Amino acid sequence: MRGFSPPPPPLLLLLVVAVLWTTVAAGDHRVLAGVQPLSLIGIHRAVSGLDGSASVKASPSLLGLQGEDLEWINVEIQSLNASQDDWIGVFSPANFNSSTCPAEPGNTRQEKPLICSAPIKYQYANYSNACYTNRGITTLRFQLINQRSDFSFALFSGGLENPKLLAVSNVVSFANPKAPVYPRLSQGKTWNEMAVTWTSGYDIDEALPFVEWGLKNRHQTRSPAGTLTFSRNDMCGAPARTFGWRDPGYIHTSFLKELWPNAEYTYKLGHQLFDGTYVWSKTYSFRASPYPGQILCNKSSFLEIWERQSEMVQMNMQITSQAL
Ligand SMILES: *[C@@H]1O[C@H](CO)[C@@H](O)[C@H](O)[C@H]1NC(C)=O
Ligand SMILES: *[C@@H]1O[C@H](CO)[C@@H](O)[C@H](O)[C@H]1NC(C)=O
Ligand SMILES: *[C@@H]1O[C@H](CO)[C@@H](O)[C@H](O)[C@H]1NC(C)=O
Ligand SMILES: *[C@@H]1O[C@H](CO)[C@@H](O)[C@H](O)[C@H]1NC(C)=O
Repeated sequence: MRGFSPPPPPLLLLLVVAVLWTTVAAGDHRVLAGVQPLSLIGIHRAVSGLDGSASVKASPSLLGLQGEDLEWINVEIQSLNASQDDWIGVFSPANFNSSTCPAEPGNTRQEKPLICSAPIKYQYANYSNACYTNRGITTLRFQLINQRSDFSFALFSGGLENPKLLAVSNVVSFANPKAPVYPRLSQGKTWNEMAVTWTSGYDIDEALPFVEWGLKNRHQTRSPAGTLTFSRNDMCGAPARTFGWRDPGYIHTSFLKELWPNAEYTYKLGHQLFDGTYVWSKTYSFRASPYPGQILCNKSSFLEIWERQSEMVQMNMQITSQAL
């Protein structure tokens, strides 16, 4: 076994935090890792500059025709007055005009902002083509994931801080935006129980959620799932309640019980609509936990894992101190 030196004292960590904090206080956003880039966008200050001299076209407009829940899309931009700080914001749901602003009781003085939802992604228009500023034409590529809503792309000038809306694209959507997607596995209450959690656009008054599962290549059974969600009013305040809000859809959890140790299982997520038809996810798989106390790692492989982890801790420390 190789030598193992203890990680640097907590003092260094404190120093790192102190330096990072000074950087934030100095307002130097761009060099700072750990600041959510979307938080730099002054969406509540957006003004309208729609005048027909710019256009945005997104294609294809229908995604997930083969059941994909992740797709690339081309966004073609044209602007007569292109500038270096033009950028594209991706909005989902596609309609982001002021009709989507929540009613604020008691706030009658203030005018409604132009835009009441934050973009889920953005990119500078010059990103893939530095000649954009001269030619006023370019194409950007974005990756979209199926998240229960349609999408639109908006061109802004004025940089992230003082956005001026120039053009809005056509609407893009997935064939089934409500499809059950992104299962997350976690250990259940006992060693032989697995919890499956996923998201869909189906409330329980629309469809019954369940998991169809079983040993790989064997008979598959069904287990029901519970459904939860939360709403805008459950949030403490702005911006989560205002332009930061995005509907979370429905979160379903099912417990798969009495699993055989180390056995490979397959499962898929289902929703039975009340007209009797089914909506299915793809098929996924997992390996069940070992029986408690069962030895899977021998002594030398355990030591190897331990050494690798301590090496990684030290490497991270080095990277952090180099950044200083
Ligand atoms: C052209 O864009 C620049 C920078 O965004 C802006 O200051 C200027 O007013 C625009 N001119 C016209 C005619 O829209
Ligand atoms: C693209 O625009 C950004 C934001 O204005 C700027 O920081 C960057 O230097 C530009 N890149 C090129 C290649 O012009
Ligand atoms: C906002 O969007 C809705 C729905 O698409 C539309 O009916 C309405 O006219 C729009 N309002 C404005 C101010 O653009
Ligand atoms: C122990 O685990 C290591 C790493 O997985 C493996 O290379 C080795 O053959 C194992 N030894 C025994 C005795 O099983």
